[in-house]
Formats: sequence, C-alpha cells, structure tokens
Amino acid sequence: MSWRRVFAGRVDQIPAARHFAMYLFAETAIADEVGFVVTELASNAVRHTLSGQGGSFSVELVNNGLAYVAVSDLGGGGYPTVRPDPIDGSNREHGRGLLAISKLAVSLGVHGSPEEGHTVWADLAGVCNRPAQPPVEVAPAI
Ligand SMILES: Nc1ncnc2c1ncn2[C@@H]1O[C@H](COP(=O)(O)OP(=O)(O)O)[C@@H](O)[C@H]1O
Ligand SMILES: [Mg+2]
Repeated sequence: MSWRRVFAGRVDQIPAARHFAMYLFAETAIADEVGFVVTELASNAVRHTLSGQGGSFSVELVNNGLAYVAVSDLGGGGYPTVRPDPIDGSNREHGRGLLAISKLAVSLGVHGSPEEGHTVWADLAGVCNRPAQPPVEVAPAI
C-alpha cells in the first residue's frame, strides 16, 4: 500500500503530516517512529527549503513489510546533511533530526539536488501488525 499527500509549507502543516502518517500506520508497531520521522523531515522541508517560503512539501508512505517514509521539498540551496554527534559529547539544540533518523532507520537516503529539490527518505523495520491482545488468563477451576 502506498500513499502520497501534498501539504502547504507551513509550520502548522507539520503536525497535520504527522497525524496523516500515524493514522496510516496505526495498526503497526511503529506508528510512533513513522510519526517522528515525518515530523523531522517535514520540519526540515519547511525550515531549510523554499517549501517553507510560500511553497509546499509532499509526504510519501509505503507499507510493504518495511515502512518507506519520504518527504520531498522544493530545494533552495542547501543539502540535507547528517551532522555527527559532537566529539566532546556536548548537547546541541540543532542538527539532531537526521542523525536521530539515521539511528532509527534501516537506511536513510537523499535524491535530488538543491535546484530541483530533495526527497529525503527512510526505511523503517518492524512494521508488522501489533500482536493481538493476549488472551485473558482464566484461573483454573478447582
Ligand atoms: N530538506 C533539506 N534541504 C536542504 N538542507 C537540509 C534539509 N534537511 C536538512 N538540511 C540540512 O541538514 C542539516 C541537518 O539537519 P537536521 O539534522 O534535521 O538538523 P536541524 O534541522 O536541526 O538543523 C540542516 O541544518 C540543514 O543544513
Ligand atoms: Mg531538522
């Protein structure tokens, strides 16, 4: 199954994109992870590209055993870059989103260019449906 939806490149559309993704993966064990990845990638599209300057971004989701999560933006100059952890172990406010996705995902990649825009995508494992509720234990008859 696959879905694609276009969102206006506004900050208020980031939670809308997350809800869309989590709804589609609600029956799986990784709805939260899918929501996190969409939030980070959509935030990047809005914050770092022309998508966030009156443009739009699109979200593509595929559930085929792996979860494929991709966000396409309008480009505008920069490159999506995984920033490594600081060597001194210090915390930093920015530059953690793609690093966090790279640790969560089976693989993470980028298509495109600053001119035509990028598609940043991640494959997540563990999409299998949530196990059914365990049967209620019945006390043995005495
Ligand atoms: N879609 C994108 N297009 C262009 N540059 C991007 C995009 N996503 C991320 N980047 C670049 O990669 C860097 C790292 O992204 P990220 O780890 O999400 O950190 P942050 O968004 O907090 O800066 C960003 O600072 C930005 O320079
Ligand atoms: Mg970011």
